[in-house]
Amino acid sequence: MADTSKTATLTFEDKSIELPIHSPTAGPDVIDIRKLYAQGDVFTYDPGFTSTAACESTITFIDGEKGELLHRGYPIDQLAAKSHYLEVCYLLLYGELPTAEQLETFEHTITHHTMLHEQMQYFFRGFRRDAHPMAVMVGVVGAMAAFYHDSTDISDPYQREVASHRLIAKMPTIAAWAYKYSIGQPFVYPRNDLTYAENFLHMCFAVPAAEYKVDPILSRAMDRIFTLHADHEQNASTSTVRLASSSGANPFACIAAGIACLWGPAHGGANQACLEMLKEIGTPDRIPEFIARAKDKDDPFRLMGFGHRVYKNFDPRATVMKQSADEVLDLLGVENNPILATAKELETQALADPYFAEKKLFPNVDFYSGIILEAMGFPTSMFTPIFALSRTVGWVSQWKEQLADPTMRIGRPRQLYTGAPFRDYVEVENR
Ligand code: SDX
Repeated sequence: MADTSKTATLTFEDKSIELPIHSPTAGPDVIDIRKLYAQGDVFTYDPGFTSTAACESTITFIDGEKGELLHRGYPIDQLAAKSHYLEVCYLLLYGELPTAEQLETFEHTITHHTMLHEQMQYFFRGFRRDAHPMAVMVGVVGAMAAFYHDSTDISDPYQREVASHRLIAKMPTIAAWAYKYSIGQPFVYPRNDLTYAENFLHMCFAVPAAEYKVDPILSRAMDRIFTLHADHEQNASTSTVRLASSSGANPFACIAAGIACLWGPAHGGANQACLEMLKEIGTPDRIPEFIARAKDKDDPFRLMGFGHRVYKNFDPRATVMKQSADEVLDLLGVENNPILATAKELETQALADPYFAEKKLFPNVDFYSGIILEAMGFPTSMFTPIFALSRTVGWVSQWKEQLADPTMRIGRPRQLYTGAPFRDYVEVENR
């Protein structure tokens, strides 16, 4: 628990209210306003949560000014370089890096939960072939609430553990099968002899007619993309999972709600929107036209892949992602990819423009991930499902943390009401 030796005094009208201040491990102090309504008969107002902490957490910390992202204290650039996704999953879930034995046990558990109940195939087949894979993921993950009854009692720590493992293990299978269904190819089952990233690539690109060997550089890049997207404090989709879970809802339904929120182009849908924007720009000579549109107050267009609510200098994940983009495109012999060339020139021109400097807008995690995923052979519609697959461990870790918090209550924000005052009903003949 944070230190609460300091207090803030709020003075207005004839009132003076003392509010405790919590001093965290890192980041700004927090003024605790839980008693404000009872003592001052007022609410606070912060519709985008730009200055409001909704919870206490020990999982991830972001320093927006320094461009720092820590998972349980470990910086993302070190984890991306030295760790791998399932080890980062263990770290996020349990708070410490695993011993060799703990890691082996955890990887064995996840590997042996990757298959779906065979009947779940029918959910995929109920969708049109042209359904967006995110619609399929929302539907199929929500349907897990109707299949895995032995892991939905959230008051039972063991069932919470099993639900966590099932979600992390089965999400690649669900995402891969959504892709296979969309292209009319047969589902490919997971294999226990492959790593988590190898398994996902194999389920996406293998066909029964031929053997598919996963290139180790591509599986390493895939694993790094999973790691870079694993968790990110109380972003919109994680906050959705926490709010849904605060009512005691079924864990699979809560994660389905997180997937639904992530789909938006302002959030996880930005990687798809960014690549579509780069394709629309087409060639570097058209960049000034799009930068002008992004700066035009009367034009709703924004540079997708740019800007962030918290990072105000650079997104450390984008830095690592840019290195991976160069490696993957070099491996695939497409280092002269026109989209990458346009992306790099767009980054140069945008960062040189005073508008973006003043508003602290720069490439975020979504700017380069789409370029890598496209080079690996994924359609843009699969970019956000891959983000959802990666972020499942973050959602699950935050969900578990909230359920274990003895101070947890159902989330129920108040409002600033500016609608009609009390008035009596008027019969239609008198209107
Ligand atoms: C993710 O929260 C997380 O942690 C999210 C995420 C995660 O890992 O979970 O990091 C993943 O969602 C990354 C962000 C992906 N989204 C995009 O790339 C979409 C484009 N970016 C914008 O929509 C925007 O920057 C947001 C949504 C990312 C941030 O929105 P904010 O913090 O609410 O900022 P804002 O919309 O209030 O913008 C501030 C100003 C505005 O101008 P003014 O009204 O002050 O004059 O900057 C402008 C905006 O018009 N602006 C942009 C812009 N982003 C903000 N102008 C042009 N292009 C942009 N991309």
